[in-house]
Amino acid sequence: MTLAYWNGSYAPLDQVKVSPLDRGFVFGDGVYEVVAFYGTEPFEIDAHLARLGRSLSALRIALDPAAERLGEVLRRLRADCGAADATVYLQVTRGAPDTRGHAFPANTRPTVFGFASPLSRLKPDALAAGFAAVTAPDIRWQRCDIKAIALLPAVLSAQFAKENGALETILHRDGLVTECSSSNVLIVREGRVVTPAADHRILDGISRQVVLRIARGIGLTVEERDVTLDELRTADEVWVTSTTKEVAPVVSLDGAAVGQGRPGPVWRRIRGAFDALINRG
Ligand code: PDD
Repeated sequence: MTLAYWNGSYAPLDQVKVSPLDRGFVFGDGVYEVVAFYGTEPFEIDAHLARLGRSLSALRIALDPAAERLGEVLRRLRADCGAADATVYLQVTRGAPDTRGHAFPANTRPTVFGFASPLSRLKPDALAAGFAAVTAPDIRWQRCDIKAIALLPAVLSAQFAKENGALETILHRDGLVTECSSSNVLIVREGRVVTPAADHRILDGISRQVVLRIARGIGLTVEERDVTLDELRTADEVWVTSTTKEVAPVVSLDGAAVGQGRPGPVWRRIRGAFDALINRG
């Protein structure tokens, strides 16, 4: 039995009843977070809750993650999940009004939903071999900094990756790399770590922030700036980062080798520091 959090209380997941008029169901009008727990320890929980607060504010959904004690909710859901490592999914929608209309409904309380599931980490042998990635045009909206639940382009690009035996689809717009269906992208060129700046074109990933902090901490030069598709294709190393993929090396891009076609030395250093941070490796 999976435990769910639903509007202030806990219930078995299969007993939660969602209104068909919920704004999340009808309009994709909501935001979410995915937080990893290594053992009982949440990873960067404050950063996730702060980003949730920013996403909610951007959509003018009136809910304060601190006042709702969502940190405690995450911990309780994690505690109920038996897995060694877990992720907790947390979603807030604009709520369930009694009729459908695009503009904000009056007097509707946000719907808050959460549940935990096992974190299936990428396996060491797969990480050692590296992953394939494919590229595709970024067809998303102009506010990718909001972690919105409206994810159709992400669904399509994730499926495109899957059908091509790839870990991720790396997206590009106007000749510039943005991010992936559900992760950020970083490259290494001449020893420098380069990644698109965190503006409206991408989600400012928490894992991305951690990896940039690690890189700076070990004395690497970090550049947050526009990255051309050509720079991606000729990079020495390419990595993708997310809560569930952590920091994973990409060794082929649209079928062509990245660098030497195997995980690079800069990735190994970063990955070692990341594993130390989460007490693994
Ligand atoms: N996705 N970019 C996009 C578009 C994402 O959806 C995600 C996360 C990231 C990485 O963010 P973080 O490092 O904070 O997880 C970047 C989550 C994991 C998901 O949709 O399941």
